[in-house]
Amino acid sequence: MTQSVLSCRAQAVVDSGSDNPFFDVISDVWCPSKNPKGYVNVGVAENTLMHDELLKFLNQRLELPAKYLTYNEGGSGSSRLKKAIASFLNNHLKPFTPLDPSHLMITNGVSPAVEHVAWAFADPGEGILLGRPYYGMFIPDISLRSGSPVVPVSFDEHDPLSLEGVDKYEEAILEFQQRTGKKVKALMLCHPHNPLGRCYPRAVLIKMMQLCQKYQIHLISDEIYALSTFENSVDTHPPPVKFESALSIDPTGIIDPGLVHALWGMSKDFGANGMRIGVIISQANRNVHMALQGTALYSQASGITDHLTSLLLEDTDFTNRYIQQNQQKLSEAHAYTTNYLKQHGIEYATGCNAAFFVWMDLGKRYHELHPEEDCEDIEKTVMQRLLQKKVFLATGFLFGSEQKGWFRIVVTQGHELLSMALERIVAALE
Ligand SMILES: Cc1ncc(COP(=O)(O)O)c(C=O)c1O
Repeated sequence: MTQSVLSCRAQAVVDSGSDNPFFDVISDVWCPSKNPKGYVNVGVAENTLMHDELLKFLNQRLELPAKYLTYNEGGSGSSRLKKAIASFLNNHLKPFTPLDPSHLMITNGVSPAVEHVAWAFADPGEGILLGRPYYGMFIPDISLRSGSPVVPVSFDEHDPLSLEGVDKYEEAILEFQQRTGKKVKALMLCHPHNPLGRCYPRAVLIKMMQLCQKYQIHLISDEIYALSTFENSVDTHPPPVKFESALSIDPTGIIDPGLVHALWGMSKDFGANGMRIGVIISQANRNVHMALQGTALYSQASGITDHLTSLLLEDTDFTNRYIQQNQQKLSEAHAYTTNYLKQHGIEYATGCNAAFFVWMDLGKRYHELHPEEDCEDIEKTVMQRLLQKKVFLATGFLFGSEQKGWFRIVVTQGHELLSMALERIVAALE
């Protein structure tokens, strides 16, 4: 066998991937007709609820002009696409200063956008704040290649999306700086929140901006679920908060606008993870754009995607209808799931009105059903049982959860798959 000679960083990735069940899951995916015994995958944040409508639109419209077979306008995206996204997001995010195409850099997804901003804002060893629980892939996206550690923020008994929560970010800055002698350079926010499915209140965003100003930290607001909000018809505690973009806040007297950046993309609000479009929005910091020109070629969206996304976002009637129907379907999927969980005595995080998830305490239910068992690692025990029943979802551990036993279910892949997943989850706990 060839001895692989990799860098230490690359070898660490090889080593950490060796016992990941995800690879078994994706090579044996459930299909009601062709593979009924396969894994039901409710672990990956995909929304297929509107795929038929989107495919109909795209397949009817695709006719590719030759310039999209060239490098076109380079790594940061075509001016046509930037114009389309700026106009679309001006309608939906209502930024305080209207977006101009020059404020945008296009990438092939928000993951590369996160990596870019981490690289641009922090030197190796300098920290980037991230509140718990968090979207697990933020860790490699932020740290793997930049060498900038994530500084996780714990909230103890406080709500991570509250005003008191912001004080915990400050404690984490001071603790990190004292412990390492290095600076914290950015705060990564996920708004709406993955996995909690809630939006940050405006007052909390403002307090975060004030904190960032005090320590001269960049605020990066990942708003990839901005338009995937919905009416919660089942539970209203804590009261759902309407989504308001960080860009909609007048920074005057609060924060240097050069420290405020937002991310958005096509993966979630258009259920199009495979299109690979992301955008970095930085309205008042030309240096960010100039620095990222140097790395833009590594994350250039394909010409076909650039063209298709432009076509789609230029059609305001279609996108308005699409977003509204999607939100209705999200509301139904959330209601179905939460009612099912209630009927089966499974506690879940209430007050959601955004994104694709329900965050639920399978560990607690397992303890109730098996009081005689003394589980050392409840998430591992439950996960093993879930995999035995051929259902895959992500454990709280991957999200840096402060409480043990929580899991995130993705509810947006159609009723048939969702009901099969819920049945298997309940069976796995018995
Ligand atoms: C909060 C958040 N940001 C970024 C991403 C990655 O998005 P993309 O497919 O655009 O790389 C995800 C995907 O799950 C996400 O949940």
